[in-house]
Amino acid sequence: MDDQLLIGREREQAQLRAWAADALAGRGSLVLLAGEAGVGKTTLARRALAGSGLEVLEGVGVQGGTSAFGPVVEVLRAHLRIEGGGPLVEGPLAAHLALLLPELGPPAAEGDRATLFEAIRLALAAIAARRPAALLLDDLQWADDATLELLAALARSLDTQPLLVLGAFRSDELPRDHPIRRLRSELRRAGRLRQVTVEPLEAEATAALLERTLGAAGPSLRRAVFDRTDGVPFFVNELGSALAASGRLEAGPSGLELLEGEDVPLPDSVRDAVLLRAAGLSDDARVAVLTAAVAGQTFDPELVTAVAGLPEWPDELLRQGIVAEAAPGRMAFRHALVRDAFYGEVPWTRRVALHRAVAERLEATHAAPVVVAEHWALGRRPEQARASLLVAAEAFCAVHAYRDAERTTRRALELWPEERDEGTGGARLDVLERLAGCAELAGDLAEAGTIWRAGAGGRATRSRSGRRSAGWPPSSSSRAAGRRRWPAGSRPPAPSPPPAWRPRPPPNGSPRPPTSGRPGASGPP
Ligand SMILES: Nc1ncnc2c1ncn2[C@@H]1O[C@H](COP(=O)(O)OP(=O)(O)O)[C@@H](O)[C@H]1O
Ligand SMILES: [Mg+2]
Repeated sequence: MDDQLLIGREREQAQLRAWAADALAGRGSLVLLAGEAGVGKTTLARRALAGSGLEVLEGVGVQGGTSAFGPVVEVLRAHLRIEGGGPLVEGPLAAHLALLLPELGPPAAEGDRATLFEAIRLALAAIAARRPAALLLDDLQWADDATLELLAALARSLDTQPLLVLGAFRSDELPRDHPIRRLRSELRRAGRLRQVTVEPLEAEATAALLERTLGAAGPSLRRAVFDRTDGVPFFVNELGSALAASGRLEAGPSGLELLEGEDVPLPDSVRDAVLLRAAGLSDDARVAVLTAAVAGQTFDPELVTAVAGLPEWPDELLRQGIVAEAAPGRMAFRHALVRDAFYGEVPWTRRVALHRAVAERLEATHAAPVVVAEHWALGRRPEQARASLLVAAEAFCAVHAYRDAERTTRRALELWPEERDEGTGGARLDVLERLAGCAELAGDLAEAGTIWRAGAGGRATRSRSGRRSAGWPPSSSSRAAGRRRWPAGSRPPAPSPPPAWRPRPPPNGSPRPPTSGRPGASGPP
């Protein structure tokens, strides 16, 4: 539908275009775009920004977890690709930006979060100074916490820059403690909350969208589709295409209608509509698409072909528009909801085996540990998942993404029951100590206190049973030492350390992680 006009959305487009025009005139801002999955946020954002005079750079949050500042790094790389890699920031701050973009040179050995934020702010200002720009940060419900904290800190500086930051997120199923809620309340407190909420289409607009797929539709078909889809455009398109492919329509006096006497019910979920639309796939294509759904929203077709045991990638999936090429050597599902539908079709035991196979291959190619960990966890390999999570936590800590480090470490501990600490020299307790350090650095003081106390209990037990000298609860100075230890980059204790991982510029776009696990994620568990 890219070359077609949007249906409806006049008011939302006008609002976004007005803010884009302000940005073009040097008065930028941060704007949030909310709405349920498939309602049309990405489509609206792209359409409103096209022709705005702003250079549009896109970054996206990834289900299952993004590396620190993932969407922002993507935007910076997109710019470097266009501009041929000229320096974004000059002087001492360049080394701080290199923490996120290793291709810029050696990273700073010492630093803090405020300095890194400043380096990013200057880089974005430099981009906008060359040409007024819009950053479209999509699917922020899956972004790392560091990205969202950065946005809160950045908002004020946009006032005087030709830079619009448009952040889209799924507003349904957002848990109470999701960092987007924190971002929104901070913006509201500062009097800077600008949000457009995208609602489903009305009945008339739904019919107009249906008719783009089917041609003229009669009144009862229109009504049936509106009742099923509630006007969610993604669902309308899938249902329309599924019906067209199923041969269940006939010409009526004022357009197509459902066949008389047809007793097969209309699909009543997005998932059923997606699957019905794809009902005619060959066996190979079906195996490939189910395996790809386990691999991720974007995936390497070669990896998927190998894991699925197929001789080659079946082109049928591209032809049918189920997947599209995302970058050289990478493919993506047309929409996260398409991937969700196929993922739900993979039988449980097969799913576990596939996640393991994907984890193994990704680990061998040094993919981001946060991605690898998710596959190990879903492949029911807690020890491997834990090791990858701890490496990921270290990487978060190294770029001052303390909340992400805290969340990741907590997940590692969840996969590490206390009784399993036996014989590991108290490695679990060491990790607990690091978790408390992260919580403290993230400003979560009450949480840090609780963890310190839990750790103290564990240490006391160990020292009573003579297995380890106490040294706990840590004095404030030893706490500080514990805190310093991790950010300085020492590797956390890992039961079976995976290969060393260093962030590298991905040649074909960033690797896209697998399934959920991030709060607020719906779809694949
Ligand atoms: N206003 C609209 N008019 C026509 N088609 C739309 C409209 N909004 C969304 N669509 C279609 O619906 C599908 C889902 O939209 P998308 O923007 O990806 O949703 P979201 O980003 O909210 O998940 C896309 O295929 C898009 O072409
Ligand atoms: Mg979207």
